Amino acid sequence: MTADLQTCPFSTGSLGARFRPYEQEGMFAFFKEARAQQPVFYNQELDCWVVTKKADIQAIFRDPDRFSASNSQSPVNAYSADVHEILVDGEFTREPTQANTDRPKHTRIRNIAGQFLNQKRFARYEDQIRELTRQQIATLPPTGTVDLVEALTYELPAKVLFLLVGVPQEESYRVKRWSDNTFNMIWGKPTEDDTIAGARGLVEYYDFCKSVVNDRLESGVEGDDYVSHLLRARNGDDAILTMNEIYSLVHGVLAAGHETTSNGSANLLWALLSDREQWDKLVADRSLIANAVEEGLRYMTPFITWRRMTLTDVEIGGVAIPAGATILMSLVSANHDEDSFEGPLAFDVERKNARQHLAFGNGIHFCMGAPLARMEMKILLEELTQRYPNMRLVEKDNIEWPLNMGFRGPVKLLVELGE
Ligand code: HEM
Repeated sequence: MTADLQTCPFSTGSLGARFRPYEQEGMFAFFKEARAQQPVFYNQELDCWVVTKKADIQAIFRDPDRFSASNSQSPVNAYSADVHEILVDGEFTREPTQANTDRPKHTRIRNIAGQFLNQKRFARYEDQIRELTRQQIATLPPTGTVDLVEALTYELPAKVLFLLVGVPQEESYRVKRWSDNTFNMIWGKPTEDDTIAGARGLVEYYDFCKSVVNDRLESGVEGDDYVSHLLRARNGDDAILTMNEIYSLVHGVLAAGHETTSNGSANLLWALLSDREQWDKLVADRSLIANAVEEGLRYMTPFITWRRMTLTDVEIGGVAIPAGATILMSLVSANHDEDSFEGPLAFDVERKNARQHLAFGNGIHFCMGAPLARMEMKILLEELTQRYPNMRLVEKDNIEWPLNMGFRGPVKLLVELGE
């Protein structure tokens, strides 16, 4: 670490001043430099401490006594009074229930959610997920150029999730739009006009979630779906779950459960097709696909950052950080850490320890949908390598990434499907 970087985090040459949280272009090289020179640095634009080494990030995830998750989904840019008014008038009462809740509330709710969101249950849906994937692939033309994001990875994970949650498939496009909006409001850089329109979208989206839950309550809760499970577990008792917690849980899972998998799938396809040899390896040997999914999550982490708040004064990587500070954990940097992954900037479907990535977080909040996302991406690759083994990227470079500090996935992915 150089002396001036150590003593003055605000100096114009410091990494903190050069950090562009929303811009993803050049991000890999920037974090490589950060890990080598100043692994923990302050960024004034977001008033946060950025942590870049895997061991430090893992330690934060595993220490909920000193690091609260309460800020993990707060809008990076605070809403204006007008936006607040729209949310209050529209009775947008979404409350923290999972990723942004601390114990003991988190434990109570995770225990109930986990009786449904678990590997055993997800495995029961494998055939239906494969069928949905095949149906979506069957809508592609036999040859020619298509945008795989638009034609495949955008909507498919939402359709899968709707199966589990118990929401009609026809609603998937509407929900996709709403959750794009939510993600942009939290982690993007929307204008005030966009935020005002977005707030109206949030109200509509929350109303939709309430109506899904209330309709189920009326029509009967015997079904084998997530909403029925939550209502049965509640059994009319607010001490178990309140109705507002159920609305909030449905709202949360209807966004977290597909946007991430959409990005993860598109990222994975981009990485594989950018390095033809890697794609060809999967075509030749499909047993490599499960590991390729892990390597995709590592190399092209869909959630590039995740937040925590310090509950006490702490020291991370030798840097003193006060209580009440925002910690921005760069998950993509953790997953590229040279101390954990050999040659981390190479995408290698045969990497032995690819699964040790932090793309799904770690500790008590570890992603509850991880087994589902893994299965969805594996099935997608199994089907695509079989149906379109000669698929090629139309353009490897000049890919447009969203202006967003939270999630990463190509806006478009043009491919030539091949014969
Ligand atoms: C590639 C896809 C996905 C990625 C990259 C991803 C990533 C994450 C991350 C980074 C967290 C925060 C973990 C932490 O704080 O330690 C999280 C939490 C969560 N995820 Fe995912 N996720 C994905 C798919 C899904 C799916 C498909 C579902 C639902 C079926 C889901 C449901 C959840 C839930 C409920 C939590 C909160 C867990 C808790 O706080 O206890 N995720 N996810």
